[in-house]
Amino acid sequence: MLCVTWKHVFTVILLYSTCASGQEGYFWHITDHHYDTTYWSEMRSCNDEVPVRGIYGDYWCDSPWRLVNDSINAMANINRNVDFILWTGDNVAHIADQYTNETYVVHILRSITDALKAAFPGVKVYATMGNHDWYPSDQFPVDSHSLYNATADLWKDWIGDTNQVENFRKGAYYTVKTTQGLRIIGLNTNLYYTSDKLTTDMTDPAGQFAWLEEVLKNAKTAGEKVLMTAHVPPGFHVPGKVQWFYNHYNTRFLDISRTFSDIIVGMFFGHDHADGFKLLQRHGGSPGVPIFMAPSITPWRFKIPDESGDPHNPAIRLVKYNQQTGVLLDIHQYYMNLTDSNRNNASDWKIEYKASEEYGQTDLSAVSVDNIIKAFKTDKSLLDKYIRYNTVLANGDTTVNACDEKCRAEYNCAFINMNEISFDSCYTTLVGGSARLCSSSFLIVLLAIIYYVLF
Ligand SMILES: *[C@@H]1O[C@H](CO)[C@@H](O)[C@H](O)[C@H]1NC(C)=O
Ligand SMILES: *[C@@H]1O[C@H](CO)[C@@H](O)[C@H](O)[C@H]1NC(C)=O
Ligand SMILES: *[C@@H]1O[C@H](CO)[C@@H](O)[C@H](O)[C@H]1NC(C)=O
Ligand SMILES: *[C@@H]1O[C@H](CO)[C@@H](O)[C@H](O)[C@H]1NC(C)=O
Ligand SMILES: *[C@@H]1O[C@H](CO)[C@@H](O)[C@H](O)[C@H]1NC(C)=O
Ligand SMILES: [Zn+2]
Ligand SMILES: [Zn+2]
Repeated sequence: MLCVTWKHVFTVILLYSTCASGQEGYFWHITDHHYDTTYWSEMRSCNDEVPVRGIYGDYWCDSPWRLVNDSINAMANINRNVDFILWTGDNVAHIADQYTNETYVVHILRSITDALKAAFPGVKVYATMGNHDWYPSDQFPVDSHSLYNATADLWKDWIGDTNQVENFRKGAYYTVKTTQGLRIIGLNTNLYYTSDKLTTDMTDPAGQFAWLEEVLKNAKTAGEKVLMTAHVPPGFHVPGKVQWFYNHYNTRFLDISRTFSDIIVGMFFGHDHADGFKLLQRHGGSPGVPIFMAPSITPWRFKIPDESGDPHNPAIRLVKYNQQTGVLLDIHQYYMNLTDSNRNNASDWKIEYKASEEYGQTDLSAVSVDNIIKAFKTDKSLLDKYIRYNTVLANGDTTVNACDEKCRAEYNCAFINMNEISFDSCYTTLVGGSARLCSSSFLIVLLAIIYYVLF
């Protein structure tokens, strides 16, 4: 009798541990809300256009509150049962510094923090600051600051650990462990952004690199797997070939990440507004760490004389992952057709794509992302899909059709080449000859300036 009982107990333990080792879970990744409080009044983010201004927003403007709140309600309706939420910043609109101040920035952060807490009670949100979540915009300091403190106070329940809240006060970075044991590292990569004039000549602003190396070393010793999250991504944004990080920070960030590529299973960023991914390779070229940029909530397109950016449909991203290994199993990308929603006076959030189906992979591990990137080189229609998703299906096929051979070469090179030398060498090989590169360099510099000013 006793024997049978023990057998039962062992069977239960065995079943439980088998299930526990490969449990699927979900988390949301949301980014770049850019809430414009003046949408219905001064329209400060609207590029001096005279937009029609639908109730959910306009492609020329940043988000009205209704869009911000509706996107959060949509998340809760689609899946309120997530393990956590990654929120990668840029909550303040593209508004000149003369119209903002510290109190205003905190007000915006608090509005969205409160809405997330109300819609997802008990769910941890691992939030990071975006370059616009500062006053003056982009100028993140390397010392204690009242705005770091105010943000730490808004997010301390989510961070949940006194030491880590203290780290946040030093420079808006921290680390936490999920209930299932994955390590999340939230970074302030705005410190490496070329628009931050306070950090130009430093080596390790706010001591974040040294801290990161220490955290990764300890994680490795403890046998943990790591997800990293921040606002501004390393490498290049294409088309246009814009490197957001200062060179020396780009190099250091990638070096550290490469050193620990055996334990970092994924990185999650915003800032691009476009949907995209990249792959950090190990020394020798084997697949290292997949890097995912989620598309923005804001539909806003930049505009300067003679040049305007692509519009985007508002987007929210549900990620399916392995709770123990952290490996991404799928991306379920949802979006709102802004034109339709405004016309019908009702939001219609629906699925845009499931990455596994679209790209024919069983998961989104480094190896699978490497397979996709290799397939892009020979399968034009697959790259067309990627470019269409880039703008979240806004603009019909205009963007895809406008992407010529040079534009495609930029895409194909930016997936794995994250420094100038390797990117240029890849590009030269693909478009055949450096002459073209020289003639287009003026345009590239111009585009870079445009991006620096606007994002
Ligand atoms: C957000 O939307 C929810 C659900 O419609 C509503 O109850 C709530 O009042 C809204 N919040 C704000 C601040 O508008
Ligand atoms: C801060 O900015 C907001 C929004 O422009 C404005 O209403 C408020 O008066 C400003 N506060 C201060 C102290 O300047
Ligand atoms: C930020 O908060 C810490 C801890 O509460 C405090 O010691 C520090 O003086 C504050 N910094 C600023 C600039 O307010
Ligand atoms: C969005 O809605 C507009 C207006 O109904 C339609 O023309 C367009 O094709 C839709 N876009 C997508 C991606 O469904
Ligand atoms: C649009 O919908 C909102 C609520 O979602 C409602 O308050 C408003 O009256 C509607 N407007 C029209 C023109 O139907
Ligand atoms: Zn942004
Ligand atoms: Zn940004």
